[in-house]
Amino acid sequence: MDEQHLIEAALAVRANAYSKYSNYRVGSALLDDRGQVFVGCNVENAAYPEGTCAEAGAIAAMIANGGNKIRAIVIAGGHDDIEDCTPCGGCRQKIAEFASPETRVVLLRPGGHTRSFSVDDLLPRSFHL
Ligand code: THU
Repeated sequence: MDEQHLIEAALAVRANAYSKYSNYRVGSALLDDRGQVFVGCNVENAAYPEGTCAEAGAIAAMIANGGNKIRAIVIAGGHDDIEDCTPCGGCRQKIAEFASPETRVVLLRPGGHTRSFSVDDLLPRSFHL
């Protein structure tokens, strides 16, 4: 399972984003520590706070399938073309819940470029019980 495969999965699911209120489409694909891939897209709602992020969808799919550790997660977002989309604060915390120090968070950038971060880069001193 290479990073390119995850990028393609994130772009493919992004096409299904339900984002009629923001017109901002996000797709996410994660690889768990068993080697399985799960995807999610943002799903907005007329009651705006009820919308869910792409990362939350991918994480929920992993958990429902019995997984619990993210090895890598790709996030691809933007209005029409891909923009520099970094995970929102809530999604950083959601990713941190299922991350290890080796987990990579890969953000797609314009022009097909990527940037890769650790969860600690994105959410230093995150909350854990
Ligand atoms: N969004 C995501 O799906 N993931 C992020 O990390 C950032 C934001 C969604 C939420 C909303 O549907 C739209 O992008 C605009 O904020």
